[in-house]
Amino acid sequence: MIFKSITANDVPSMKKASKSGKKQNDDIHRRELSALLKSCALINSSLQIFDVLDFAMKVAEEFMEAEASSAYELDAERGEIFFRLARGEKGGVIRTKSLELGEGVAGWVIQNGRPVIVEDVTKESRFSDRLDRETGFRTRSLICVPLTIRGKTIGALEVINKKNGCPFTNEDLELLTALAQQIAVALDNARLYQRSQKNFKLTAEELKATQQKLIRSERLAALANLVQGVAHEVRNPIMSIGGFAARMKAGLDKDHQFHRYLNIILEETSKLEKLVRDVKELAEMHTANLQPANMNSLLSKVIADLSPITSGKSIQLDADIQENLPPIVMDSAQISRALKNIIQNSIEAMPNGGTIKFKARPVDMRIRIVVEDSGIGIEEDNLDSIPEPFVTSKTTGAGLGLTMVYQIVMNHQGEIHITSRGGKGTVVTLDLPLNSQS
Ligand SMILES: Nc1ncnc2c1ncn2[C@@H]1O[C@H](COP(=O)(O)OP(=O)(O)O)[C@@H](O)[C@H]1O
Ligand SMILES: [Mg+2]
Repeated sequence: MIFKSITANDVPSMKKASKSGKKQNDDIHRRELSALLKSCALINSSLQIFDVLDFAMKVAEEFMEAEASSAYELDAERGEIFFRLARGEKGGVIRTKSLELGEGVAGWVIQNGRPVIVEDVTKESRFSDRLDRETGFRTRSLICVPLTIRGKTIGALEVINKKNGCPFTNEDLELLTALAQQIAVALDNARLYQRSQKNFKLTAEELKATQQKLIRSERLAALANLVQGVAHEVRNPIMSIGGFAARMKAGLDKDHQFHRYLNIILEETSKLEKLVRDVKELAEMHTANLQPANMNSLLSKVIADLSPITSGKSIQLDADIQENLPPIVMDSAQISRALKNIIQNSIEAMPNGGTIKFKARPVDMRIRIVVEDSGIGIEEDNLDSIPEPFVTSKTTGAGLGLTMVYQIVMNHQGEIHITSRGGKGTVVTLDLPLNSQS
């Protein structure tokens, strides 16, 4: 860090300066200031903004022989002014405070982009004593200049209470203005850097999510082909096994010992038949028949179809569906299948009953459907793998339900997010664009 080469400790001359004459003192300060301004310009690339501010304001205080100083930063979105720095007796407390835009002298300076010198705060109408009252500090006089960059005010620097009781001078104003120019650039750079870091992070996250989606969709397509082929091949043998087992069972005496084995064969073959049906259905989900449709009537039907299942299991289904949802282009059969799979999982996650909250709302150009249950939840480590085909924690499940849901959401160019607090329930959020084009 270039700035590190000059620190407050490197300017002992300021503290040790002989009291013999103000002129000598001023000369020393001027030299220090010129070094400081140079270093400020250099640190635009460094990000030690707090160090820079602290050092700059310390020099300013010493030069002006003042008691305290502050650097304010405007959060334009929130219309609030924060302390980037507060030096002086009550600095620690003051740093936690904030001002509204326009509040007090600093608020005025930031709002109007003009400097202010106040000789006596008791005679200054723009002065607000709120922070003094809250912190126990007593402001008598002050000088405040805006921090301006590219014509925009982003904050202010303020130096408070000249020690000798004299008013702040034009020379003080010149110095603080020169400092403010450098500090504004440094602060702006720090902000840009922070923003670019954030954007970079977002982009990396987005890239990862997109890559995962691509991998998933490629894998699903390849797998669907393979599995469909296998399913086709095993379908006939399974049907033969099941059919012959049923015939053997019918031809045996009721108390024959093979009944037990035949029942097992029949049970297993019917499970396999279901698996083949599910796989076939998943393969068929690969394309969607997108048509403009009414989401409200689809959701009412899904809920009506599920009510008999939930009511028999002491499960409460709370539906909160906004009326007149905008028309949406979708494959209605697929969307209702996806919702039924999600709700079916919630039902299975609540063997002792519970609540399912089902919510639908328009959000921007999408319809957001949220299914929240109070079931057993999903361990965080498993969240990534549950959409994979054949991943299941159930003895009866094929592990294809969520695979199908993901495929359907993908067909609609939508988004799905599953969050869960282990043991406390699961939230599935579907975002379906009003006009998907696939
Ligand atoms: N709402 C939920 N609560 C708890 N676990 C869930 C929920 N939804 C899905 N899961 C987990 O994800 C797994 C995969 O779900 P799915 O693909 O529908 O297959 P299956 O229901 O056949 O097991 C489930 O076995 C379960 O472990
Ligand atoms: Mg399931």
